[in-house]
Amino acid sequence: MTNLVIDAIHSRRSTRAFTEEQIPDEHLHALLDVAVWASSGSNSQSWLFTAIQNKDIMMKLNQIVREGFMHRYEPDDDYPGKVFAKTAAQNEKYNFYYHAPTFIIASNVPDYANAMADCALGMENIFLAAESLGLGSCYINQVHWMEHDEILRNFLAELGIPKEHTICASASIGYIAKPTVAQERKPNTVKIVR
Ligand SMILES: Cc1cc2nc3c(=O)[nH]c(=O)nc-3n(C[C@H](O)[C@H](O)[C@H](O)COP(=O)(O)O)c2cc1C
Repeated sequence: MTNLVIDAIHSRRSTRAFTEEQIPDEHLHALLDVAVWASSGSNSQSWLFTAIQNKDIMMKLNQIVREGFMHRYEPDDDYPGKVFAKTAAQNEKYNFYYHAPTFIIASNVPDYANAMADCALGMENIFLAAESLGLGSCYINQVHWMEHDEILRNFLAELGIPKEHTICASASIGYIAKPTVAQERKPNTVKIVR
């Protein structure tokens, strides 16, 4: 079967090496547009997708996240990504968004049960549209994990992300410097009942 959407779903990978080149403005606008065309619980559309492209701001964000992981953040479980991030942050070259030129943060209103689901659907739209535009993308969880960190929240508030918002997800976007090899899909994870 030839289908552009299905092809993009199959070919999209999480990119962890980006070139320095910024993405065109029209692509950025397209990515933010498809984000808000995602489905949302009760048509809430209460999300906020904040794109950051300023290098100084992104470096400052990285510094806050890195120092947070080193000194302030303690994983509340043994999820491998959290433990890995805490160790990786010790390295002074640590960059949690893989030096992508564009970083998008999805936040949502507080006390809304579908906050994460709605933002995640918006993010997947971004990932698939990025793939179709020849861009790489990667879901990034560090900002979500550190959403209660006061220093981070003050900084995000300066960028216009309301302090009361829950930080659901974030994403690195840019041109692919090194393609990612596809992960095998685990067997027995789908079922058809007739
Ligand atoms: C909820 C969620 C959180 C993720 N967090 C990160 C992350 O913080 N850093 C990262 O490099 N990849 C992250 N990923 C990407 C996964 O590692 C990736 O999707 C998985 O290894 C499968 O690879 P693929 O996306 O290339 O198919 C995350 C993915 C999801 C869905």
